[in-house]
Amino acid sequence: MKILITGGAGFIGANFCEYELAHHPEDTYLCVDALTYAGNLASLEKVLSLPNFTFVRGDIADRAFINDLFAREKPDIVANFAAESHVDRSVTDPEVFLRTNIIGTQVLMDACRQYGVGRFHQVSTDEVYGDLPLDRPDLFFTEQTPLHTSSPYSASKASADLLVLAYARTFKLPVSITRCSNNYGPYHFPEKLIPLMITRALADQSLPVYGKGENVRDWLYVEDHCSAIDLVMRKGRAGEVYNVGGHNERANIDVVKAILRELDKPETLITFVTDRPGHDMRYAIDPSKINAELGWLPTTRFEDGIRHTVQWYLDNRKWWENILAGEYQHYYTAMYGNR
Ligand code: NAD
Ligand code: TYD
Repeated sequence: MKILITGGAGFIGANFCEYELAHHPEDTYLCVDALTYAGNLASLEKVLSLPNFTFVRGDIADRAFINDLFAREKPDIVANFAAESHVDRSVTDPEVFLRTNIIGTQVLMDACRQYGVGRFHQVSTDEVYGDLPLDRPDLFFTEQTPLHTSSPYSASKASADLLVLAYARTFKLPVSITRCSNNYGPYHFPEKLIPLMITRALADQSLPVYGKGENVRDWLYVEDHCSAIDLVMRKGRAGEVYNVGGHNERANIDVVKAILRELDKPETLITFVTDRPGHDMRYAIDPSKINAELGWLPTTRFEDGIRHTVQWYLDNRKWWENILAGEYQHYYTAMYGNR
């Protein structure tokens, strides 16, 4: 089979490329990525030279490029990871989120229709469900929870999900969707909570916690997300949505303190800063459908995953120091300068 992975030079996409090549070496992989600020070829170093892996730089919202690529390559499965993914950036500049996350998804699905692709898999997020209150720990997102978004990012992802389901019903496109909770692990861009805190703590810089740090996220080690996507795109039922998460809820402040403990750094580095506008309170996934239908379960406990992750950042300084030395330097001042 030939599998097209979009957004493969990003955090989850790069981990997915490694996962696929390790678990299904008999398949052929084509990775398409525009290499935006979040894309990094260094994240694909382990797979780039393999004979059954090809990288092509390109934009999923560029119809001529995508049609030409599909005509030439005729993929059997398309897994769409390509996206603008950072909520804070969507607050300052929503437009590119609409272009990539919505139009890009549509362009890919049109090409899937035209070239008879066997499965279009959309990598989505639990953020499409909005948030849950902190005082109702009994509530979880199920696949039936109504979409109710808070940020331009989540609105763009929910719009894409609706389009995917519309293409399934109207055009009988064989699609699937996974909606996963927050991921962490290797190759995570240091603008997101966990890698931002690790890299700043290592430099003894202040750690900007939004609001009171009480917001809760449901953390999943990235390899567990990859195994879920792999199962759903190969064996999941067409037209279905599957929630992915590992019942691993933590308040942000506890995550930051866990990182400081791993690094043996003082909690005095923590600085409470102005909250994110529209900040979602709590995310929590009910993963019983993917467990019952496909037997998926997460394998990495948070305590082990966070230790591996901190160790990865210690062992791969060059990877993130190169990022910090580039465009991202200006980003930090622009985003946090006046908070
Ligand atoms: P990321 O920002 O690290 O990577 C996104 C990748 O997409 C980058 O390599 C970027 O260059 C590429 N890209 C952006 N615009 C493109 C375009 N127009 N054409 C082609 N490539 C483009 O994101 P991530 O954290 O790896 O997330 C991957 C997917 O998983 C996204 O769809 C995101 O919504 C979803 N998701 C992420 C999380 C999480 O915790 N990170 C959780 C659930 C779902
Ligand atoms: P983030 O990693 O941006 O993921 P998402 O917003 O998609 O869940 O943020 C995770 C949580 O951490 C979220 O509640 C916002 C919070 N946060 C901070 O407190 N400080 C920061 O500097 C960042 C980037 C996030």
